[in-house]
Amino acid sequence: MNRKIIIAIDGYSACGKSTLARQLAKSLHYTYVDSGAMYRAITLYFIRHQISYNEANHISVALQGISLEFRQNENTGNSDIWLNGENVEKRIREIDIAEKVSEVAAIPQVRKLAEKCQRDMGKNKGIVMDGRDIGTVVFPHAELKLFMTADMATRVQRRYEEMKEKKGNVSLEEIRKNIEERDYLDTHRKISPLKQASDAILLDNTHLTKEEQLDFALALAKKVIDGILT
Ligand code: DC
Repeated sequence: MNRKIIIAIDGYSACGKSTLARQLAKSLHYTYVDSGAMYRAITLYFIRHQISYNEANHISVALQGISLEFRQNENTGNSDIWLNGENVEKRIREIDIAEKVSEVAAIPQVRKLAEKCQRDMGKNKGIVMDGRDIGTVVFPHAELKLFMTADMATRVQRRYEEMKEKKGNVSLEEIRKNIEERDYLDTHRKISPLKQASDAILLDNTHLTKEEQLDFALALAKKVIDGILT
């Protein structure tokens, strides 16, 4: 298993993409990159600095003031996103960011910046990246592409449990509304909309446990790495 590949995981919000991507990366000793965290961190910066989403000039200047980095967290073993030297991993998961991120992610200059960083991170392969346009735009030649989906009710419930665990005070209804809105914006935006790449394998995990979905994806990845599946 020496050949290193790129694994692109795209799909709707709250489908468990990051859970699978993280587990896959761990099993294969690959790097996991959460591309959504980059859009979330940029959104946080825009909120804090009151950047208007319609002013191209303001946006370009604002983006020059942003430095993003992923750093390993010694306590959790995960990689956290840092914005201008501050660990914002926890902050970017809050509902105010979720409510604005799809709008910010639709801005052309924002996507250009994020995509460049993402491609740089994939230069040496050995990477699992999840997002919305990884298999279609960022790495159209990724050796393995998965497209994840699940029933809306399942996605809402999973996200609710996750936020409850993190002591977030959000209702099921707020979560449903946010997921529906983001699905709509992510699939309807002009640039790099969320869609399944023609060569992506569909993974509906509504009735799968985390272990089952990992087994499924890992078996595929190993076949691709060994050259059995192309
Ligand atoms: O994966 P996530 O829910 O953390 O992503 C947050 C938002 O960022 C999502 O609603 C759309 C946007 N996004 C994107 O446009 N392209 C990506 N590759 C990843 C995320």
